[in-house]
Amino acid sequence: MDRITHLTDAEKQLLDAILSLELYPNASPEEADENVQAGENMALTADNLCKRGRLIQVSTFGKQAKLLDWTAAYPRLAEAGIIQCDDGIYHLTATGKIKAQHARTERIGKIFSDYFVRCARSTAHAAFCQRVFGKNLCQADLMDMAQLNKLLDVLDLSAENKVLDLACGMGTIAEYISDTTGAHIVGVDIAKQAITLAQERTRQKRARLEFRYGDMNNLNLAPASFDTIIAIASLHFVQDLAETIRQLVKVSSPDGQMGLFAFQYASESDSPDVLLPENTDLARALQKHSLSFQTWEFTAQEIEIRQRQVQVAQELIQAYRQEGNLDLCEDRIEECEIDLPRLKAGMKRRYLYHIQR
Ligand SMILES: C[S@@+](CC[C@H](N)C(=O)[O-])C[C@H]1O[C@@H](n2cnc3c(N)ncnc32)[C@H](O)[C@@H]1O
Repeated sequence: MDRITHLTDAEKQLLDAILSLELYPNASPEEADENVQAGENMALTADNLCKRGRLIQVSTFGKQAKLLDWTAAYPRLAEAGIIQCDDGIYHLTATGKIKAQHARTERIGKIFSDYFVRCARSTAHAAFCQRVFGKNLCQADLMDMAQLNKLLDVLDLSAENKVLDLACGMGTIAEYISDTTGAHIVGVDIAKQAITLAQERTRQKRARLEFRYGDMNNLNLAPASFDTIIAIASLHFVQDLAETIRQLVKVSSPDGQMGLFAFQYASESDSPDVLLPENTDLARALQKHSLSFQTWEFTAQEIEIRQRQVQVAQELIQAYRQEGNLDLCEDRIEECEIDLPRLKAGMKRRYLYHIQR
């Protein structure tokens, strides 16, 4: 068996696509065709891997994105014991899973690095955040001031607290929380350039703000080093929620608390009960570790924010265009076009979970 020390970009794409289909086997509307309907399980065939690979590329690099040629990648990865193929169905070996996770983390880190660097420079985006969320904290998702104030009410932070912000992006929300409460905050994220921006921006506040590269799937933090953990618009990127919660429990002090935002989708075939706060993916992961929680629902607010988002993005479209950032604006509109029907049809809900150990 060959040992591969360096993966080509085509090999990384292929591994990323296999992992994606293993984690999320349901076909998206874009992948549906005469062989598979949206929502149905997709077998890990070469055809389906191409479909998923193309979807990943388009969502990463836009509609013009193309898949690399995987012809040489299949035999080389199989020869090296990274993937296996049984009767035309591919899967990752144990080594392959680790390599695929690295490929996925690297890709997501690059997307968000690029995203935050562009947003940080964009005056149109600053205006967008100010108008949609009530304050420009360079939000990557939809943390408006009403939700943030609720989080701060629930956590009741002071200068005594040591907080971990899980997947902090460029750390603007962490900085705001520290500025208003005095809390010490460590933000971790895999978007390296976003972390660099956060470090540079908060150099004068180093006594209470620290930003580091860190992977939510594999946290490398000292045990019991935080009394508060927050996660905003990030837990849906985690590969195994119960495993990440186990790691969070380890880094949290015995009387610590967590404030975690999460959303839950239901597909056509799911019972609507999966959307109840005690049945969501996050709730089940918390229950697995015997963590009890209190929840607040923000679905109605999410509908309002998404509607405002479309309106403001349309009003700012020229400003985005003049900066060469039209795609940032179009992505925000498209996000709402996908999300609003699901929210209005009662297929998605948003919650804040407060866990007090
Ligand atoms: C939607 S953004 C949210 C950022 C910020 N919390 C906010 O609300 O503006 C998701 C963030 O998760 C980060 N992320 C994704 N997967 C991650 C992982 N495995 N470990 C750490 N950060 C991750 C991305 O780089 C990105 O900054």
